[in-house]
Amino acid sequence: MAAYLVDDTRKVTTHRLIEMKQQGKKIAMLTAYDYTMAQIVDQAGMDIILVGDSASNVMAGNWTTLPISLDQMIYHAKSVVRGVKRSLVVCDMPFGTYQVNVTESVSNAIRIMKETHADALKLEGGVEILPQIKAILDAGIPVMGHLGLTPQSINKFGTYAVRAREEAEAQKLFSDAKALQEVGCFGIVLEKIPAALCNKVCNELRIPVIGIGAGPADGQVLVIHDMLGMNQGFSPKFLRRYADLFTVMTDAIGQYITDVKSCDFPSESECY
Ligand code: KIV
Repeated sequence: MAAYLVDDTRKVTTHRLIEMKQQGKKIAMLTAYDYTMAQIVDQAGMDIILVGDSASNVMAGNWTTLPISLDQMIYHAKSVVRGVKRSLVVCDMPFGTYQVNVTESVSNAIRIMKETHADALKLEGGVEILPQIKAILDAGIPVMGHLGLTPQSINKFGTYAVRAREEAEAQKLFSDAKALQEVGCFGIVLEKIPAALCNKVCNELRIPVIGIGAGPADGQVLVIHDMLGMNQGFSPKFLRRYADLFTVMTDAIGQYITDVKSCDFPSESECY
């Protein structure tokens, strides 16, 4: 039996997330990409685990999220789901799997749900992809939106700078957020936008808004490797590091090397 760090061990649902917003309870969301990490995050009491396409960066070492394939996302999501009992598991639809047309988007969405047993999907974009989102929702699949700095469009933006500082882009984001709610999304991630704009969207919407680099919101999301300090050299202003695992792991691995080379390991008590 898993030892959960929270009293309420009921499975988190999209319905409960909306209730949490109504009750003013904040939502915690974090990425995970594998079974072991997912077990730890779930047992710590996370509300939402995101199998992010940031796996492309932190697991595969790519510069962007664009190269990760549908098969690779399915592999990560399956591994995560096996480790989770309580958290809601949301899987990113990777770049190229929902931009072409509605039919392809729905069959890719169904494939992820059937093969991974994830609870919901996340798609990047506003009104441009509304027909795809509507069709996926019509197939009975819960969808989370993602607006602001949408990393799958990084080549179009040409920069990782804060989005929607200009009035026109801010207005578009605001109306996109309302459109995502009206079509039936259960939540929206807002990435790297001014805090005042995020606050305006949170106040307008009934559904929860989860921020990353967007100031206070109904909830927050971070990439687990970043917040655990496993990455060196990625220090955006919005990132709070809760540990320095790079140093902890390097020290432990260094000690193991020393012990092997000095014949200290294995000791007699570690032999059969
Ligand atoms: O892929 C990801 O990790 C994400 C978060 C940054 C929101 O989409």
